[in-house]
Amino acid sequence: MSGPSTYQPQSPLMKWLEQRLPIAGLVHSSFIAYPTPRNLNYWWTFGAILSMMLAVQIVTGLVLAMHYTPHVDLAFDSVERIVRDVNYGWLLRNMHAAGASMFFIAVYVHMLRGLYYGSYKAPREVLWILGVIIYLLMMATGFMGYVLPWGQMSFWGATVITNLFSAFPVVGDSIVTLLWGGYSVGNPTLNRFFSLHYLLPFVIAGVVVLHVWALHVTGQNNPAGVEPKTEKDTVPFTPYATLKDVFGMSCFLVFYSWFIFYMPNYLGDAENYVPANPGVTPPHIVPEWYYLPFYAILRSIPNKLMGVIAMFGAIIVLLFLPWLDSCKVRSSRYRPMAKRFFWAFVVTCLVLGWLGSKPAEGIYTTLGQVFTFFYFAYFLIVLPVLGRMEKTLPLPNSIAEDVLNKGKVAKAVAGLVAVLFAGG
Ligand code: HEM
Repeated sequence: MSGPSTYQPQSPLMKWLEQRLPIAGLVHSSFIAYPTPRNLNYWWTFGAILSMMLAVQIVTGLVLAMHYTPHVDLAFDSVERIVRDVNYGWLLRNMHAAGASMFFIAVYVHMLRGLYYGSYKAPREVLWILGVIIYLLMMATGFMGYVLPWGQMSFWGATVITNLFSAFPVVGDSIVTLLWGGYSVGNPTLNRFFSLHYLLPFVIAGVVVLHVWALHVTGQNNPAGVEPKTEKDTVPFTPYATLKDVFGMSCFLVFYSWFIFYMPNYLGDAENYVPANPGVTPPHIVPEWYYLPFYAILRSIPNKLMGVIAMFGAIIVLLFLPWLDSCKVRSSRYRPMAKRFFWAFVVTCLVLGWLGSKPAEGIYTTLGQVFTFFYFAYFLIVLPVLGRMEKTLPLPNSIAEDVLNKGKVAKAVAGLVAVLFAGG
């Protein structure tokens, strides 16, 4: 599906290079001539937004690491020093901390877009699975990053989450000792978390290359969910998709800047401004907002091992999504029931997120159990059954037809408005 190789080196140097390493040709066919479905909407700019956020996290992280000290006696103060004394250190830190939240906002939109438009279905299963691997790596990276400032929430969050592995029979305790580098969360833990937090973003970048490679093999899905058939269905990536992506990224940057400059701590926890103290347990140990739905699932099950399995299961189930959803029609646009269940699923995730921030007692536990059931039911019952039963709407014959139909509706609305105004 990569674009035709129409690249013509302009200078003798480029000609020479192209015969030895055809990198300019690769870039040309992947990001310039690459045929893009002409009906993509703005939800398709989130892949570019995610690439931008990955770059921002790596660059700001690299500079922060130049000033940070991974030692339990110095880590907290070194972060304070970055904010107060290092030139533009406050900006770097705010960009990196708020950037993590922005990265997760973007990834959730990107994943929900895939879910809504059925982008995980054949032939894009590997593309989707690589995405789930990226998501797991992002979760691990975010978790380890949050431990680095060595505040109360860093310490106690690390203690609670690493302890979960002790639930596994036989190997559980050895895994925990390995994670800690000793018999409790301490200096060796902070050191290994720092080392891995530095490494993982580069692993993510590597998997993103595979993700985009897989995307270029199958080509992009689109809001209509029908494959491009003729040249009329696509436009060249540059300038059409490039400009749209730049606009999407700019809007996202405005939103991101608002957090950096006006409310940098809004998405964090005040408790993390208190240095870690193993002798004082905070009244309320809560992870970052992006883990909350999974935290709610973990706590809704009374048995520790089953809770851990359910929590990991909630992500692992995504790997099987391409085979759980049996409907041949991709886009929820043409699946009236699937569309309703999709929105019910979004609400389920939001409610689980809210429950994750509440103490695990009384009504919150009961609600947690109900919504955990809904979460799994969506993947294991609703999608497999709907695919067999649902009466889908007629699909457009081609992407071009989808665009032209929309054009007709827009023209009709414009005509109606003109008539109304002329009459008035
Ligand atoms: C660092 C994180 C990620 C980056 C940089 C990234 C990048 C991209 C890019 C550039 C695209 C093409 C543009 C677009 O469709 O938006 C794309 C498409 C896609 N991504 Fe990701 N992605 C990431 C994470 C994920 C995750 C976590 C999933 C799912 C679990 C995922 C699933 C998909 C799918 C299914 C497509 C094809 C969409 C379509 O053509 O309809 N991605 N990704």
